[in-house]
Amino acid sequence: MQWIKVLDHLPEQENMVQIKVYHKKINIIKHQHQFYAFANKCPHAGADLGSAWCNEGYIICPVHRYGYCLKTGKGKAGQGDYLRIYPLKIEDNCIFIQIKKPWWMI
Ligand code: FES
Repeated sequence: MQWIKVLDHLPEQENMVQIKVYHKKINIIKHQHQFYAFANKCPHAGADLGSAWCNEGYIICPVHRYGYCLKTGKGKAGQGDYLRIYPLKIEDNCIFIQIKKPWWMI
């Protein structure tokens, strides 16, 4: 696992920003003064979460409205699934996420 700088500034608004790291789309969102990074692919049926939204600490998929906790990735009660959440840190106003380099890129 390594930390990768993905943004050299902090997004001002609570809008979602999409980045691409190692060919993976990852969304970064600011919620209640905290930043979170999560996979773009919905674990339910693979929908694109680029147009998802946040509601009370849950990312809501636009297709079937499943919800995933921003902190843990755990799906709401009864879903039994998880959204991939990436560790995120901020240094010098830059955003870094922790991600494993794919074996085929080593
Ligand atoms: S594809 Fe996301 S909730 Fe069904």
